[in-house]
Amino acid sequence: MFKRSKTVVGLDVGSAVVKAVELTLEGSEPVLTGFGRAEVTAEGGAPAAVAQALASLRGRARRCVTGVGGQSTVVRYVSMLPMSPEELQQAVRFEADKFLPFELDEVVLDCEQLGDSAPGAGEGTKVPVLVAACRRQLIEERVGLVEQAGLTPLAIDLDLFALANAWELCGLPEEELQDLDPGPVPPAVALVDVGATRTSINVLRAGRTCFSREIAIGGDDMTQAVARRLGVELHEAELIKCDGELHEAEVASSIAPVLEDLASELALSIDYVEHHEGVEVRELLLSGGGSLAAGAATAIEQATGRPARNWNPLEGLRVEAEGLDLDSLELEAPSLVVAVGLASRVRIR
Ligand SMILES: Nc1ncnc2c1ncn2[C@@H]1O[C@H](COP(=O)(O)OP(=O)(O)OP(=O)(O)O)[C@@H](O)[C@H]1O
Ligand SMILES: [Mg+2]
Repeated sequence: MFKRSKTVVGLDVGSAVVKAVELTLEGSEPVLTGFGRAEVTAEGGAPAAVAQALASLRGRARRCVTGVGGQSTVVRYVSMLPMSPEELQQAVRFEADKFLPFELDEVVLDCEQLGDSAPGAGEGTKVPVLVAACRRQLIEERVGLVEQAGLTPLAIDLDLFALANAWELCGLPEEELQDLDPGPVPPAVALVDVGATRTSINVLRAGRTCFSREIAIGGDDMTQAVARRLGVELHEAELIKCDGELHEAEVASSIAPVLEDLASELALSIDYVEHHEGVEVRELLLSGGGSLAAGAATAIEQATGRPARNWNPLEGLRVEAEGLDLDSLELEAPSLVVAVGLASRVRIR
């Protein structure tokens, strides 16, 4: 029997669906030992969905990592003179009004140096620094939600970075990427999570974030387009959109402009990161419920000129099958990426 000493729940409080993933450290290997999902309804809101999503975990784990994103959060990539981590924290706070659209006392702020200055660069050369901030109010709300569900909050991450952590935990091994004909320009992959209200993109070079952004386009926009086209209520449009066969042609033609807008924003981001970071984005890996929309991958491939495919994080993760509904796990897998990334903290705490 394995000793269950280390278990963490990753709780992804999406605007449409709450997803929970339980990872347990068995030796040094994180293993998926539970998962749950529940739609956020107008009546119960997030608290009811959290309770329902956690119910299927049978209350084994106590410790929880949840994430934040959207308009209450800000991520900036800035250049600063090299200094110690403590000095950096001070300096970023001092210059916060340059990077943040919020007042400093309204937010929780963190920063980290991302790499070293180029070899041979002289003294005084700036280094890349990541600055992340979240409105204190949202953090307090999330902590309340976790505690109300009977769990202990261990950390609050940014959804954007959970995406990168999921890749680190169960994406392609870096060696395999290197094997793909290295070429003169360093290769990068773009992780793209299409949610209900927003799409997150995180570009990784040698496994590390070099660019991230949220785009305010997602599955809700597709549902609205279907509702307008067919003259039906939103909840009905949602069912029709996800069915895949009902009104197939109308659904495809009504969501096409939304997918085009999204794909062209992604293409802009990729041009930007290639230009500014000197990398070549080889592939886009799609996750999130919205990425299941018919034609999503094709629209993105056309606009960006690179291969785009759906990413199943379970391919790189051992699953303890006992007591789990493996069919629904397989079905849910694409939308569990952020929750997997949140729970991946089981390795360090
Ligand atoms: N088969 C499908 N076809 C099209 N869209 C789908 C399908 N399955 C789910 N979706 C859409 O995916 C979205 C939900 O995905 P997800 O759970 O990733 O979002 P979320 O995390 O709640 O949202 P957000 O990240 O924006 O807060 C909804 O808009 C839903 O309509
Ligand atoms: Mg989401």
